[in-house]
Amino acid sequence: MPSKILIFLGSVRPGRLVERVGIAVKNIVIAQGMEPEIIDPAELPFEVVKVPLFFMKDPEKEAPEWLLETNKKIQDADGFIVVSAEYNCSIPPALSNINNSNSPFDIGTYGGIRATVILRPFLSELGTVTVPTFVSIVNATENIKEDGTCVNERISNNLTKLVKEVGWYATAIGNHKVGVPPPQ
Ligand SMILES: Cc1cc2nc3c(=O)[nH]c(=O)nc-3n(C[C@H](O)[C@H](O)[C@H](O)COP(=O)(O)O)c2cc1C
Repeated sequence: MPSKILIFLGSVRPGRLVERVGIAVKNIVIAQGMEPEIIDPAELPFEVVKVPLFFMKDPEKEAPEWLLETNKKIQDADGFIVVSAEYNCSIPPALSNINNSNSPFDIGTYGGIRATVILRPFLSELGTVTVPTFVSIVNATENIKEDGTCVNERISNNLTKLVKEVGWYATAIGNHKVGVPPPQ
């Protein structure tokens, strides 16, 4: 069965560049025989999450629908790719708002140098195993067209390497989980 890969977009502003990078990554995930789904904070009825899911007594009754649905997608996925710029030398608020509240997931990786340095411990705290590769995309406007076509061979090769790594880790961890359930 093909691995399900969630692709998180990091920003919500009109004209954002994560959209085209997200399409480029999605196309590579498909080309590698996996099933991508983009999680786009701009499409969610966005609001600041005041109470994380794991603090709710009865999440089914207390949590907003979008949060329950996103959490279910995270639980059902095999791997994750984060497509994000850095905002104020850190993680954009839209990205941390989606993920702060959800239960742990398994794998993550990302683009953006200083945001990467912060994202690794952030994702680790959520229970993910991060892959070694990350792809830093400088000048995304020139290197990736609006329709997601990547015109820079180095970036394209690096994205493919990253997607293959995420697929390998997702399969490896998924296989191990079958015989050995994760520790509680
Ligand atoms: C609020 C804000 C903060 C930013 N902070 C940084 C920063 O700390 N370092 C940096 O290199 N670029 C920074 N930028 C530039 C963004 O990385 C760049 O505009 C990128 O395209 C934003 O991603 P987006 O197009 O998906 O919104 C910032 C942009 C915004 C809007």
